[in-house]
Amino acid sequence: MKEGYFTNGKNPLSIKTRRDFLIYMVGTTVTSIAAGYVFPSISQGRELDLETLCSLYPKNSRCENYLPGSQALDENSKAIDVKTLLESTKPGIPVLVKGLPNDSVDYLIIKDGPQIAEYGINPTCTHLGCTVAWNLQENHFVCPCHGSQYDSQGRVIHGPAKRSLPLITVVVKQNQVRLVDQKPAIDPR
Ligand code: FES
Repeated sequence: MKEGYFTNGKNPLSIKTRRDFLIYMVGTTVTSIAAGYVFPSISQGRELDLETLCSLYPKNSRCENYLPGSQALDENSKAIDVKTLLESTKPGIPVLVKGLPNDSVDYLIIKDGPQIAEYGINPTCTHLGCTVAWNLQENHFVCPCHGSQYDSQGRVIHGPAKRSLPLITVVVKQNQVRLVDQKPAIDPR
């Protein structure tokens, strides 16, 4: 009997299932490496504190009642209500928010659905650090200092900047938007 096969000669994993298994393993490995890169404690085998765990894996069973980061506020410093926000925004148009302890301004990304993306944009220009702003008419971020431009995901579309805008982590939970001043485990761009 070939190793890994049942006595009736059938492979316990169909071709499709094996392929799915491999995809799962590769995906899990990539996620783990990326998470270890962002949070070195993972690759060093230390247990994650609740804040880090629930920022990275908000659906983890230990995070059911835990809200990581700080609550996102609108321009008038009012807590953002998820339902109201999604009713009043359009996919592809970033939404300015406040709320991180450093008093910075950041942008939520609205995806198709509409849904709030698991990452937001820190509008610090990667050229020399000026603050970029979303230009509604031109439909991209524009830097007031030397004219760099970025699309709605923060990717460079016009220099002199060469790198995408930095990201923060966003967790949507209990009708709240939580901002975590930490890049997400994987940059989806
Ligand atoms: Fe933004 Fe130079 S600082 S283009």
